[in-house]
Amino acid sequence: MLGATGTTGGRVVEFLRGRSVPVRLATRTPGPDPRTVRFDWWDRASYSPALRGVRAVYLVAPIGVEQPVPIVELFLKVAAREGVRRVVLLGSSAVDAASTGTGALYELVRATMPEWAVLRPSWFMQNFLGDHVVAHGVRTGAIATATGEGRVAFIDPADIAAVAGHALVDETPHNTEHLLTGPEALSYADTAAILSAHLGRPIVHRAISTAEAVARYQDSGIPVEFAKLLAELDEDIRAGTEDRVTDTVRAVTGRIPRSFREFVRVHL
Ligand SMILES: NC(=O)c1ccc[n+]([C@@H]2O[C@H](COP(=O)([O-])OP(=O)(O)OC[C@H]3O[C@@H](n4cnc5c(N)ncnc54)[C@H](OP(=O)(O)O)[C@@H]3O)[C@@H](O)[C@H]2O)c1
Repeated sequence: MLGATGTTGGRVVEFLRGRSVPVRLATRTPGPDPRTVRFDWWDRASYSPALRGVRAVYLVAPIGVEQPVPIVELFLKVAAREGVRRVVLLGSSAVDAASTGTGALYELVRATMPEWAVLRPSWFMQNFLGDHVVAHGVRTGAIATATGEGRVAFIDPADIAAVAGHALVDETPHNTEHLLTGPEALSYADTAAILSAHLGRPIVHRAISTAEAVARYQDSGIPVEFAKLLAELDEDIRAGTEDRVTDTVRAVTGRIPRSFREFVRVHL
């Protein structure tokens, strides 16, 4: 399990443990728990020991790397050598299949693994919590984005994890891409209204320009190239690319994906 300490991976671990599936947690900082193993994308010697005896891998590619194919390709070669048959890759609804960049990972996994799934979730509801710039906006009362009135079908990472869990352990490999969304598409102004009503204090959405969004991402510590990429994704939302709802979570897991209102009620 890569990204085992992260937003989606941590929930995939919970999902699998709930079904008594043995899991090995890969992290750069393993603790005393014997189920954890040291894994670092930038230390190739850590690949084999992390993969030995493993049947299926949840794969979160190195984050913020513009061209991740070479390093992931090497990892998959080691995985195949160690007997891994199945890989479930975390992709993104915002990233289409492409010949370069992170979009090229989809084809890489499909072409090299006998059993595979590519998860392409929409934007995480979790972005409204913790350190994310959106969460900062919730705390200060103004969520600033370059998304305009564009809508996003935000998804609870627990729903992504449930799909990932199935894709890892279902007897029949999924061998497909799963476009994953929450149950309704909302603009950031809609989310602000839901948050205001729940928290009992005014929260607004402030529509800013793409250039302003780049500056804000940079102010939060994100390097300029990645900040530009994130601001472009805001632009895509403004153009309507994320205004879609799929039935995949229910079709794969049988559970109804959690609504934003319910997420806010539980977590805020
Ligand atoms: N946020 C969104 O709305 C959204 C929407 C769609 C897709 N996504 C995608 O989600 C991905 C992030 O997944 P996530 O949110 O589940 O993870 P996350 O919470 O950002 O956690 C990152 C994980 O990566 C691991 N990691 C970081 N550097 C590493 C390294 N050098 N070697 C090995 N592991 C390393 C960390 O493990 P340790 O620190 O324990 O080593 C941690 O478990 C991104 O690629 C993004 O494109 C995000």
